[in-house]
Formats: sequence, structure tokens, C-alpha cells
Amino acid sequence: MTMALQLLLLHSAFLRLSSRGPLVQGLGFRSPTVAWPSFFDFSWPQEVQETIQIPNNGSAPLLVDVQVFVSNVFNVDILRYTVSSTLLLRLSWLDTRLAWNTSVHPRHAVTLPWDSLWTPGLTIQEALWVDWQDQSPRARVDPDGHVDLYLALTTETNCDFELLHFPRDQSDCNLSFYALSNTVLELEFRAHAVNEIVSVKREYVVRDLKTQVPPQQLVPCFQVTLRLQNTALKAIIALLVPGEALLLADMCGGLLPLRATERIAYKVTLLLGYLVFHSSLVQALPSSSSCNPLLIYYFTVLLLLLFTSTMETVLLAALLAWGNHRAQSSPGPALRGEDPGPSPEEAPGVNGSRRSWAEAADRIFFLAYVVGVACSQFSFIGFWMWATCKSEPAPGEVIPHGGQPRL
Ligand SMILES: *[C@@H]1O[C@H](CO)[C@@H](O)[C@H](O)[C@H]1NC(C)=O
Ligand SMILES: *[C@@H]1O[C@H](CO)[C@@H](O)[C@H](O)[C@H]1NC(C)=O
Ligand SMILES: *[C@@H]1O[C@H](CO)[C@@H](O)[C@H](O)[C@H]1NC(C)=O
Repeated sequence: MTMALQLLLLHSAFLRLSSRGPLVQGLGFRSPTVAWPSFFDFSWPQEVQETIQIPNNGSAPLLVDVQVFVSNVFNVDILRYTVSSTLLLRLSWLDTRLAWNTSVHPRHAVTLPWDSLWTPGLTIQEALWVDWQDQSPRARVDPDGHVDLYLALTTETNCDFELLHFPRDQSDCNLSFYALSNTVLELEFRAHAVNEIVSVKREYVVRDLKTQVPPQQLVPCFQVTLRLQNTALKAIIALLVPGEALLLADMCGGLLPLRATERIAYKVTLLLGYLVFHSSLVQALPSSSSCNPLLIYYFTVLLLLLFTSTMETVLLAALLAWGNHRAQSSPGPALRGEDPGPSPEEAPGVNGSRRSWAEAADRIFFLAYVVGVACSQFSFIGFWMWATCKSEPAPGEVIPHGGQPRL
């Protein structure tokens, strides 16, 4: 009676263990795992314990072939530095304990629930979350013990985009899969990637797909590297064209005569319009501790140029108005005060020399401004072509005991 009860309890404990949810998780933000040592019991039947242990390959590690089918990269968020992707993993390995004799049991293959045999548990190092689409996948086993397991997942991972050349940027994003419950002496991965992306209606496209097995790890690992390239024309049309148009409009404003009151209104309106554009632009661009997009510096230089030209107009107009005022208030020919705007013929002497002085300064400034704008554009093109980004070392690499986790 007591014996039977114990067995029943053990059996239900095993069932609860079997249904402990997804076998693999991202870096543990979704469902908490059940603490497994409390269920661990050495009085389990020998074969139950044995088949969920990793198959033995003598002194060599068990070889697990991984094929990574990348079917979609659907969200690249440069402001949050994340990439969302949909992958299908095909894991295959040999477990001779599951082989059977086909002349006794004539079947080509069987499917088994994933928790009735050993499967590698995978953790993605860069993941914010992982959604395993099938919570209880089934493995297909051949008569000679070849196991095939398919796992479909959607994940959002962190990626350090290289945004110096935004909007013509290209970055490599890693997805590192670790089998944390095994060591490299027991398990070895051999990975291949297959690009199955058919959708081209994307801002970022996957230009290249690579897999590698990083050397000198203590935990079995394989890495999938996606090379993402920004193909969007939107940023060029929406950012560069308005900026250039404003700069050109501002230069043309310099052709208006200095004494025309519309010139100040024109330049101030341009500056105001540019300020609105600039603040929305700064919100649309990401920022980082190193390698900020060159466009941020470019638009700041543009703002300074527009500001300088507006200030020049305001100062010279003020000088001119001040000169007029002085000329009017000084004793001079009669009826001078009745003229709304004295014409050059009417105002010789001090007033005229001041005006011609201001207009000459304006002309010189205009030429200098055109040259300055041209120089800034060309030096920006030069920067764009030759600048490379030298990131500072990651915080974990500069401290004495930092670096990649050595598990
Ligand atoms: C066992 O190891 C050898 C040598 O690395 C390898 O060729 C073989 O495929 C492995 N067998 C299994 C079942 O992984
Ligand atoms: C399979 O079973 C048959 C019949 O029992 C036997 O003759 C044969 O040797 C077995 N084959 C293997 C590989 O064990
Ligand atoms: C991706 O992994 C490779 C190889 O481990 C490494 O050299 C590279 O710096 C990684 N890239 C990123 C963006 O972490």
C-alpha cells in the first residue's frame, strides 16, 4: 500500500517534470523554470533516467548538426538597438539507444515527445525574449537512431548597429546559441545557415548570413550572424533634401538688398522652419556613446550656418537703421523728415558712406558665406567617404576580470 502510494507520487512528479514548459528559453525573461532538483530522485527506473541523458560517444563529444533557416527579419529598431527575426532550427544527431530492429518492428520512423529523450537545451545570449512556437515539439527517430528535431522560434535580440553612415549603414548582428547544460567535452555543434527570406518590402535587408562555432568555449555554442543593410531612400528624401533646400534658400536670401525689410523676415522664417525640422530630426536619429551618425553633426553645422547668416542680416540692418536715424536727427536739409525712406541720392555724406560701408560688408559676407557653405558640403562628403568608426572598448572588456562569460 505504502509502496504503491510512493510509486504513484513518483509517477506524478515525473509527469509534472515532463510538462515543465518550453525546453529552451531566452535569457530567462518569460516563464520561470520549475526548480528541478526538488524532483530529482534516484529511485526512478533506470531507463527513464538514462534516455534523457546525453548520448555517449566514447571519448569524443556528441556531434549535433544544426541547420538554421532564417525566414524573416521583420523589425529593425535602430532607436532601441534591437532586431526581431523568425528562425527554424533543425537539430539532428545520433542516439543509438533509440535504434530498433526493423525486422522485428517494421516501421520507418517514430515520433517521440521531446521530453522523453535527450534534446539539447538552447539559450540565446542576445535575446530580450524568445517565443518558441511549438511548446512541445516532437522528435522524429529513424530505426538506426538518427534523431531530427525542428524548433521554430521568433525572437527579439539586441544588436549594436554601426550607424555612423546612417542612412547607408550596414551592421552585423549576432545570435549566439548556447547549450548551457552541457560541456564541450560532451557536445559539439556543426552549424549551417539557409537564407529563406522572400519578403523584400523591408527597410533593412539581409545581405549575408553566416554561422560559426566560436573556438575555445567551455559551453557548446554556435553563432548566426546576420548582415543587415539599410536600403531606405526615405531617410535621404525626408532628411537630406529638405536640409539642402533650406540652405540654398538661405543663400538666395543673401541676394535681396540689405535695406529691404523682407530680408530679415525671410531669414528668420527660414531659421524657424529649420529649428522645427531639426528637433524632429534629432528625435528620429539614434544616439550612442560612440559612433553617432554623421548626419547629426551635419545638421548641427547646417543650423550654425543658418544662424550665422540670420545674425549677419540682423546686425547689418540694425547698423543701417541706426545710421539713418542719426542722419535724420542731425540738422540737415528741410523736409528730410517727411521722406519715409531716404533714397541714396538724397543722403550723401556720413549717411551715404555708412550705407555703402554696410552694403560692401554684406557683399563680402555673402561671398564668404557661399564659400563656407561649399567648403562645409565638400568636407562633409570627405568625412562620409573616409571616416570610420572606432568604438571604445566595451565596459566588460576594460575591467581586469571582464570579458566574455567563461562558463
Ligand atoms: C563521435 O565522434 C566522432 C569523432 O568526433 C564523430 O565522427 C562521430 O560522428 C561522433 N558520433 C556521434 C554519434 O556523434
Ligand atoms: C533483427 O531481428 C532478427 C529476427 O529476430 C534477427 O535475426 C536479426 O539478427 C536482428 N538484427 C539485428 C541487427 O539485431
Ligand atoms: C559577432 O561575433 C563575432 C565572432 O564571435 C565577433 O567577432 C563580433 O564582434 C560579434 N559582433 C557583434 C556585433 O557582437
